[in-house]
Amino acid sequence: MKTYQLKNGSRVSRIAYGCMNLGQLDAVEDRERLIDTALAAGINFYDHADIYGAGYCETVFGELLKRNPAWRDHMLIQSKCGIRFAGDTYGDSAPSRYDFSFEHIMRSVDGILERLQIEQLDILLLHRPDLLMEPDEVARAFDALSSSGKVKDFGVSNFDGRQIELLQRSLDQDLIVNQVEVSLLHAELIAEGARVNTGQGFAPASGTLDYCRLNNISIQAWSPVAGGRLFGPAADAPQHIHDASALVYELADRYATNASAILLAWLLRHPAGIQPVLGTTNPERLRQSTEADGIELSREDWYGLLERAQGRSVP
Ligand SMILES: NC(=O)c1ccc[n+]([C@@H]2O[C@H](COP(=O)([O-])OP(=O)(O)OC[C@H]3O[C@@H](n4cnc5c(N)ncnc54)[C@H](OP(=O)(O)O)[C@@H]3O)[C@@H](O)[C@H]2O)c1
Repeated sequence: MKTYQLKNGSRVSRIAYGCMNLGQLDAVEDRERLIDTALAAGINFYDHADIYGAGYCETVFGELLKRNPAWRDHMLIQSKCGIRFAGDTYGDSAPSRYDFSFEHIMRSVDGILERLQIEQLDILLLHRPDLLMEPDEVARAFDALSSSGKVKDFGVSNFDGRQIELLQRSLDQDLIVNQVEVSLLHAELIAEGARVNTGQGFAPASGTLDYCRLNNISIQAWSPVAGGRLFGPAADAPQHIHDASALVYELADRYATNASAILLAWLLRHPAGIQPVLGTTNPERLRQSTEADGIELSREDWYGLLERAQGRSVP
């Protein structure tokens, strides 16, 4: 698989694998087969978060690493912290909240390393902007995690450019990743640039993708196939989803591939160097999805998909 280069120099596969649903597979052999398939397809980047399965997804991944120690040499492992659900992994009964306090970040990373059974996390992301974020306090946590060797590099998730800039100003470490939701059905970050000053009543563009490109921050796309909603949409799904789905299947035929690969190729075609984070738990779907790496959509097909998914043409 072709690769991108991160700001820290690491080479990462253009498609990553997200482990959010790994814990849904009951048998260890099924989990092993899934990750084996991802590795065989050239995927070297594995995304986690401390909240996936309330820690269980990291635990089962750690068990897989124990059974397959050679895998670690072929993997970059990323996890996230900062979201706390009511009655979260750390066992309290406060409301759902975000928490970028020094204590919570430090405690979260210890939990992540213990569950994954590794000494160092390649990348730690802050999962969602904490409305009470104190950049200097985050900086203190990142310094401690860097100097102890527990975390190699840092990034964020679901941040816009201004929020990244506010945090970055206090940090000694570069933020090298921003993981955001992007897919054909959730394309606002991509489409917003075409609407600036068109008077269509849309909010001004956030400029998130441009900000990341200008600052060499890699963009990862979560839910890159929109959670499967374009694969045989329900009869009562909105018309634009049926229209987009029909074109996805038409293009799959024309490019001699499958629907999932077309959706991923749509993201890969964008010049920002977007890295889709795949979530399927089905090895055959995973393998088929990676065909996207060999497909380059024409400009016309790329805009055609956008038009169908948005239900209107560009201004
Ligand atoms: N940063 C964040 O806030 C955030 C939030 C959510 C997720 N994430 C990350 O993003 C990753 C991917 O998220 P996601 O799972 O929502 O992404 P996704 O890849 O868009 O969706 C996966 C879902 O689509 C289904 N699917 C995939 N291919 C299919 C096909 N060909 N036909 C029918 N169904 C198909 C899968 O079912 P099967 O498993 O049965 O194939 C699964 O339910 C997660 O694992 C996580 O690492 C990050």
